[in-house]
Amino acid sequence: MVSFVPYDRPVRAAFIGLGRIYDLNVRGYRDNPDVEVVALVDPSRERREQRQADWPTARTFASAAELASSGIEVDVAEVLLPIPLHADGVVEMLGFGWHVNMQKPMCNDLLDADRMLDAAKASDRILRVMENYLFYEPLRKLKQTVESGDIGEVCGYHMKMVGTGRGGWDVPWSSFEWQMEQMKRGRGIEVFDDGWHKLSTALWLFGPVREVRAWIGNLAVGPGVDLDTPSTIIWEHDNGVRGVWDITIAMDMYLRSDYYTNDERWEVTGSKGFARVNRCTGRGIQQPSLEVYADGEMRAYHALDDDWASSFRDSGRHWLRWLHTGDGPLLWSGEEAVDVLRFALAAYASSAAGGVGLNPRHVT
Ligand SMILES: NC(=O)c1ccc[n+]([C@@H]2O[C@H](COP(=O)([O-])OP(=O)(O)OC[C@H]3O[C@@H](n4cnc5c(N)ncnc54)[C@H](O)[C@@H]3O)[C@@H](O)[C@H]2O)c1
Repeated sequence: MVSFVPYDRPVRAAFIGLGRIYDLNVRGYRDNPDVEVVALVDPSRERREQRQADWPTARTFASAAELASSGIEVDVAEVLLPIPLHADGVVEMLGFGWHVNMQKPMCNDLLDADRMLDAAKASDRILRVMENYLFYEPLRKLKQTVESGDIGEVCGYHMKMVGTGRGGWDVPWSSFEWQMEQMKRGRGIEVFDDGWHKLSTALWLFGPVREVRAWIGNLAVGPGVDLDTPSTIIWEHDNGVRGVWDITIAMDMYLRSDYYTNDERWEVTGSKGFARVNRCTGRGIQQPSLEVYADGEMRAYHALDDDWASSFRDSGRHWLRWLHTGDGPLLWSGEEAVDVLRFALAAYASSAAGGVGLNPRHVT
């Protein structure tokens, strides 16, 4: 039982991992009176020096253990570690008595997920697995539109994701190295890492899933580099709504993007019309980010905050405010993140068994 006492002062936070995604996660912390950044942790001296410019009064450390033994008081850790380090790292930090806001994917399997949930319980701390997509304004408006009944009864929906080989921001090779480790473990960058977000949006939009069928492909793009595409995953929610998600790689395609080169869409079909989010991470379709068709009329939303980075800012702010109130959903709690993990594991198990239908509740 977690007996969480909301804070009535700025929470003292430490960033653990100062790599590529720090650039977006930091947006929730800037100019935010709910938080005081007291420490920065990364084994790379270069990264520590680079990020220190953002937080001149924060102390820097090469490891979380060094910070823990430094005498500096920390309430919460913003964990931005490579995925293979998530489980051990988070268990260690919960053990230090820190609340944890961690990046997705939570971890690779259910054993590690249990270890993390147990550690949170044992230390009476909160474990949050951030899901920035649930804070992306066009997707929030999509959810609201669907729930309003404007497009009638939901008949089904699809998601599309195209990873492109050209465009976007620079991603250091070191950020790919651990992704390649993940690929070797059968946890690919498209279905498991980036895909985690798509599975999250499915659960968030339409609730628990009772059956998943998948066909997960393999595309060798270089020595030791295999991408988990083309892939197609279909599922049915407990409420009977079906979803389809297709994932491809277009190596030679240039995609305009301030971040990763990922061309994404969500489209919900209703009995009276449809609602479609045209883009998210990249800027593939340059129309308004949300369009809603009903009864012969198209409505286009021109003024939504459709900068993908804003979803990180708002997710971070939500968490830091939540620590002061304890009100409302965490988006996601550790337990809810396990549902996303189960969804992904059911897709892998289905694909391995030739595409049979599996209930994520029964995967092991
Ligand atoms: N929400 C999203 O859309 C999104 C996007 C990209 C990445 N991510 C996630 O963010 C996490 C980090 O990804 P990234 O791309 O920033 O990786 P990265 O490799 O660029 O950065 C990881 C950083 O962690 C540091 N590190 C390694 N071991 C450490 C340790 N023991 N203690 C402290 N720091 C350590 C590395 O030196 C590096 O600076 C991953 O979980 C990834 O899946 C999420």
